[in-house]
Amino acid sequence: MDKPAFQFLDLRGKTLLLTGMTRGIGRAMLPGLLAQGLRVLAVSRGIAAMEAIREEIGADPSRLILRDCDLGDPDAVESTGRWLLEETGPIDGVLHNAAIDPRKTMEDGDQAHWLNVFQVNLFSAVSLTRHILPRLRESTQGRIIFTGSVVFELGTAFLTTYAASKGAVVGLTHSLAHELKGSGITVNCVAPGAIEVEKENLNEELNQKVIDWQSIPRRLNANDILAPVCFLLSGASGGITAQTLTVDGGLIHPIADGVVQGRWLEEEK
Ligand SMILES: NC(=O)c1ccc[n+]([C@@H]2O[C@H](COP(=O)([O-])OP(=O)(O)OC[C@H]3O[C@@H](n4cnc5c(N)ncnc54)[C@H](OP(=O)(O)O)[C@@H]3O)[C@@H](O)[C@H]2O)c1
Repeated sequence: MDKPAFQFLDLRGKTLLLTGMTRGIGRAMLPGLLAQGLRVLAVSRGIAAMEAIREEIGADPSRLILRDCDLGDPDAVESTGRWLLEETGPIDGVLHNAAIDPRKTMEDGDQAHWLNVFQVNLFSAVSLTRHILPRLRESTQGRIIFTGSVVFELGTAFLTTYAASKGAVVGLTHSLAHELKGSGITVNCVAPGAIEVEKENLNEELNQKVIDWQSIPRRLNANDILAPVCFLLSGASGGITAQTLTVDGGLIHPIADGVVQGRWLEEEK
């Protein structure tokens, strides 16, 4: 990722907890977050992969601190929460980015599947947030950012578990924001649409379909998430809390598409 074309000066020297740095949006945003002057506490799985990324992007180990943690393991998350609270110094913000989206039919999604998706996508974020709240309260600019998905609003076949977990994240965002009234901590959610990441591997036809579904006719990438995240972390967003910011290029419901509506426009002339 190129250096971002923006700079939120008040992020310099602030500390951000980021989950899920090894792939996808989290991996792609890392250089941009560091370029804002943030110190990043990265919580992800597989220390070798994390160290390799740190080396690849040339990050200073004092500014990109790594913690190996399987967010699907409640005990590991608890222990990481204690580490964050007791050993990492000030924390100003958190971006709960890590998530899983395994596809299953309703028949095949057993209790263990539901618990695992909710553990990674929701419970781990709740636990880490609870642990670092004292640090966020000490910050002059405490920020909590959850990651939702347009899948919650749209619904998506075979992603019932994922969609439900992302819906819970939205409810959590709004309610926690109100609970933290007067604390100086804002709580918001960024809800991506179809963001190009390495795992999706679409063919040309599907790629074009995604573009056709949007009002902004290009594939969105991690840079499109980075800017709103930095804005929400910065003082510039100090009046914004309990919100979900959708970054989906203006997804168009098929009935609202210009081709469909254009036909009716012609008929009504
Ligand atoms: N990409 C999109 O189009 C899109 C759309 C809507 C919402 N989102 C949301 O945006 C966020 C990032 O998505 P993405 O597309 O970048 O996903 P991704 O490519 O699958 O990356 C997810 C990250 O989370 C980590 N992670 C998953 N399970 C973990 C676990 N048990 N413990 C620790 N880390 C774990 C992964 O690490 P491992 O390598 O260890 O698995 C990886 O670093 C998610 O919250 C997702 O729901 C993405």
